[in-house]
Amino acid sequence: MEDEKRIVEGQLHPEDVQQFSLRPRFLKEYIGQDKIKEELSIYIQAAKMRDEALDHVLFYGPPGLGKTTLAMVVANELNVNIQTTSGPAIERSGDLLAVLNELNPGDILFIDEIHRLPRVIEEVLYSAMEDYYVDIVIGQGSGAHAVHFELPPFTLIGATTRAGMLTQPLRDRFGILAHMDYYTTNDLYHIVERSAKVFNTEIDAEGALEVALRSRGTPRIANRILKRVRDYAQVKADGRVTKELTQEALSILDIDEKGLDAIDRKLLLAMIELYDGGPVGIKTISVNIGEDTETIEDMYEPFLLQNGFLKRTPRGRVVTDLAYDHLGIDRMYRLDENL
Ligand SMILES: Nc1ncnc2c1ncn2[C@@H]1O[C@H](COP(=O)(O)OP(=O)(O)O)[C@@H](O)[C@H]1O
Ligand SMILES: [Mg+2]
Repeated sequence: MEDEKRIVEGQLHPEDVQQFSLRPRFLKEYIGQDKIKEELSIYIQAAKMRDEALDHVLFYGPPGLGKTTLAMVVANELNVNIQTTSGPAIERSGDLLAVLNELNPGDILFIDEIHRLPRVIEEVLYSAMEDYYVDIVIGQGSGAHAVHFELPPFTLIGATTRAGMLTQPLRDRFGILAHMDYYTTNDLYHIVERSAKVFNTEIDAEGALEVALRSRGTPRIANRILKRVRDYAQVKADGRVTKELTQEALSILDIDEKGLDAIDRKLLLAMIELYDGGPVGIKTISVNIGEDTETIEDMYEPFLLQNGFLKRTPRGRVVTDLAYDHLGIDRMYRLDENL
């Protein structure tokens, strides 16, 4: 159980940090998301030509799709420094000031999980984004006083799995909004080949395709699977990754042909066995499978919805016929097509 969880988990892991070479450094190495790359490339060139800071950018989409990577790519393309922090790490305005203080003209401030910024901090950010200054209160009680700080022109890059959780005023202050989508099998195939090179691992075309197909459209998962398969190939064979070895390793990881893992199946099965396939509310699902609602909404549900295993209705989530078929379970009645 623990293994499957780790494979799909969205948080940055030590292994992601270690494997810096796994992250593409420039736009031309960044595979997929063509529309976003094309737009960014124009805005980056324009900012460089005018010698101005790039407009503020918001990347949003499911975990593991390359938001952090792309923020770093933008910094490299602009040839500026990037300061990195995250919504939960900034508790007080002093924390924000500390990172803002490090910025040189044109630099990037990257705020991951920006939807988790405390509201008061968000409000301090408005003037920083719009007019490059902050007014904050320093000290407490009778010693408290307002201080005005001028900032250099800078670019805020925000990343979030939930654009819907940002307040409208914050959203409105981003000039460039980029929605990241799941990768195509073809893009993932190229990502797997590239990562295999970084790992110095030999993989044949069918093996790379098999990893790509099982990665739920997500580069982070593709890389994690590749690492496990590589271990397996090393111990069980001559180290060369083939389709057969990939399939064997994936069955040990409990990842099925559609890329569903044990928790995906547990979720669908709970809905089927306990609630006749739904409709079921997200809180009920959460209690039944022991995963918090945020994890389900960020990590599991988007893929299941996108691939037609789940549907959202006004009364809750329902399991589709496709999911019943995939799990090999008969049901008494078929879903109303119009649902
Ligand atoms: N377009 C891409 N091309 C190649 N590798 C990618 C790409 N996007 C993401 N990756 C890989 O996937 C991993 C997860 O990406 P990351 O930027 O941390 O995702 P996010 O910030 O959206 O959760 C990175 O370590 C990187 O190696
Ligand atoms: Mg990230």
